[in-house]
Amino acid sequence: MTRRFLLLPLFGLVVHGFQAAESPPAKLTVAEQEKFLANAKIVKTKSESRGITGTIRATLSDGTLTHDASIQTIDEFKPRFEGMSGTEINFKDTYKFNIAAYRLAVMLGIPMVPPSIFRKYNGTSAAFTWWVDDVLMDELERTKRHIDPPDQQDWNDQMYVVRVFDQLIYNTDRNLGNLLIDKQWRIWMIDHSRAFRMQDSLKEEKNLVKCERTLLEKMKALNEKQCKKEFKDLVNPMEIKGLLKRRDKIVAFFEAAGPSALYSYSYRQ
Ligand SMILES: Nc1ncnc2c1ncn2[C@@H]1O[C@H](COP(=O)(O)OP(=O)(O)O)[C@@H](O)[C@H]1O
Ligand SMILES: [Mg+2]
Repeated sequence: MTRRFLLLPLFGLVVHGFQAAESPPAKLTVAEQEKFLANAKIVKTKSESRGITGTIRATLSDGTLTHDASIQTIDEFKPRFEGMSGTEINFKDTYKFNIAAYRLAVMLGIPMVPPSIFRKYNGTSAAFTWWVDDVLMDELERTKRHIDPPDQQDWNDQMYVVRVFDQLIYNTDRNLGNLLIDKQWRIWMIDHSRAFRMQDSLKEEKNLVKCERTLLEKMKALNEKQCKKEFKDLVNPMEIKGLLKRRDKIVAFFEAAGPSALYSYSYRQ
C-alpha cells in the first residue's frame, strides 16, 4: 500500500515532465529575448565559412530554453573603401550598427528586426542577434525561384517599410540575402553593419513609394536627445545628425505625396 502511494505522485511528475517537453515553447517577448541573448550560456558555435570576421551561429541555453543567435564581431573603419558600387569615404562595417538598427526599429514600432544586444564573445565586443525562427527562404532565393507571396498586398505593405527603413539608415548593404522570409511570410531585416552613414541626402529616393502611418508619426517624433541616449557608444553624433536630416527628407517626401501615399498596417506578432 505504502509503495503505491509513493509511486502515484512520481508517475504524475513523469507525465507532467513529458508533456512540458512536447508542448511548443511559449513565445518570448522581445524583452525576454534580449535578456536571453545577454545571459544564456553558449553551448555550441558554428563558424560561417567567411573566416574570423564572418558571422558565427551559436546555440545558447539558459537551462530551460535553447535557441540560436548570430554573433557579429566585425568593427572596421576605412577612410576609403572600394566597394561593389564604387568608392566609399568614411566606410564603416561594424556590429554596433546591428544593435542600433534593432533599437531604431523598436523606437519606430517596426517588429521586423530581430533583437540584437551588446555582449562580449571570447573577450571581443560583439552583437548577439536572435536567430530568426522558421525561415522559409531569403529574398534572393524567392526572386530566383520566382515564388509569389501568398498575399501580395501584405507583402507590399511590409516591403514599403523595408524601403523607408533602409533610406532612413542609409543602408549600403541591403543585398537580398539580408531579407529573410519566415513561415508566416513575415519579412525580417538582418545584417545592418554597413548602414548609419553621415550623409544628409537619401541613398535612393526613388525607393520611397508608400509610408505606413504609424511609422511616419514615429519618424517625426525622433529627436537628437533620444537618439543620443539610445545609440550611446553605437552611432556617433555625426551619424545621428545624418539620420535626422534624412528623416526630414523622408517626412517631406511623404507629406508632399499626400494621403494616397500613406497606409496603415497591423504587424503579425
Ligand atoms: N538572426 C539571424 N536569423 C536567421 N538567419 C540569420 C541571422 N543572421 C544571419 N543569418 C543567416 O546567415 C547569413 C549570413 O549572415 P549575415 O549577418 O548576413 O552576415 P554576412 O552577410 O556579413 O556574412 C544570412 O544571410 C542569413 O542566411
Ligand atoms: Mg549578409
